Amino acid sequence: MNKDGFVLHGAVAYCKDKDTLITYEDAYVVCVEGICRGVFETLPEEYAGLPCEDLWDKLIIPGLIDLHVHASQFQLRGNGMDMELLEWLNHYIFPEEAKYSDLEYAERAYDLFVEDLYVGGTTRAVVFATIDPDATLGLMDMLEDTGLITYVGKVNMDRNAPDYYIETTEESLELTRNWLDAAAESEYRNTRPILTPRFTPTCSRELLKGLGAIVKEYDVPVQSHLSENLGEIESVKKLEPDTAFYAESYEKAGLLDQNRRCIMAHCVWSPDAEVELLKKYGVFIAHSPDSNTNLGSGVAPVSRYLELGLHVGLASDVSGGSTASMFAAMRAAVQASKLRWRLYDEKVLPLSFVNAFYLATKGGGAFFGKVGSFEDGYEFDAIVIDDEPLRSMREEETIAERTERLAYLADDRHVVGKYVAGRKLF
Ligand code: GUN
Ligand code: FE
Repeated sequence: MNKDGFVLHGAVAYCKDKDTLITYEDAYVVCVEGICRGVFETLPEEYAGLPCEDLWDKLIIPGLIDLHVHASQFQLRGNGMDMELLEWLNHYIFPEEAKYSDLEYAERAYDLFVEDLYVGGTTRAVVFATIDPDATLGLMDMLEDTGLITYVGKVNMDRNAPDYYIETTEESLELTRNWLDAAAESEYRNTRPILTPRFTPTCSRELLKGLGAIVKEYDVPVQSHLSENLGEIESVKKLEPDTAFYAESYEKAGLLDQNRRCIMAHCVWSPDAEVELLKKYGVFIAHSPDSNTNLGSGVAPVSRYLELGLHVGLASDVSGGSTASMFAAMRAAVQASKLRWRLYDEKVLPLSFVNAFYLATKGGGAFFGKVGSFEDGYEFDAIVIDDEPLRSMREEETIAERTERLAYLADDRHVVGKYVAGRKLF
């Protein structure tokens, strides 16, 4: 057989749906031309000629997907957790993001972010940069070189921000077009632009409308923040009196579109009508439990969103979230959901570990297409975990238990192999 591909041989776990973890003690995961052809206990004859990497009892799982992370906040992770969102943005975040107009600072700081993303469990990410288009292009160049697949956004904001970190409406739209043109010229293979209005409190209706037109003109996806924090929601009510709820400020600007993908981070406090709107437009919710805890925002009713059939993925939301580790995000998702259930609303069930693993793989992966699973036809994203230091001496330990333990104990050190769309990174 003369196919371009390879086989990984080891212990395997992946999610088929939100409640189903498929596990194998000893199996072969087949990649042909960048696409997964399935997992087999006995290697089919047609793949026998492919090179096979023997990983013994290391664990092979789909690459993890971070659906929302601020590269420009990486230098602040783990700090400044003493304020709620709007105060936190003004006190810590805007001064930090403003530094990225110094391209030398941007290069050094983005390099550290990119290195962290590269060595960890994340294979794909959707990233906020800053309002500076040149620094954003620099970040895109760096990410392109890693082989990770990412969407990256130049941030837009034209109101309610300090004068050292703000754009005029016209400037914001013009810089965005120029940035999109420059990104197209770069002919990136792994890196794509995504429109990134920060959120309604810092974006006028005129700016959002202008971006709504750009979405159609350039056929690009959109990311923003929605219904994260009570103070933020109050401010939107005042700023946008003609809206019944927050998401309408995006809808009225033409930013929600059934034919284009859109990510809204958080959706902690979305009223029923907003949830319906998100479903109607197929919006992806980037659930960011670590950030929502750190900023005292609340806990999104994720199991309800999953039952309603909404698209939901998991996110680190650095530096609202204190680490870019998606293992930590899984743990945070399960733990926050249990507190929400016990203390606030027993009707919304806590997330199981399998639910969280699904969110971090197939749930968020759907934003990128057929990504996040080892089913036949999925793009081949995989990470190899050496969990030997985490293993139990109990003989009856299962692959499901080993996988569950990753969320509680694994970090970058345990990620010993990474493949993105069939390409081996390490
Ligand atoms: N809302 C608007 N900007 C931000 C941000 O940078 N982080 C978080 N968590 N929420 C936001
Ligand atoms: Fe965010």
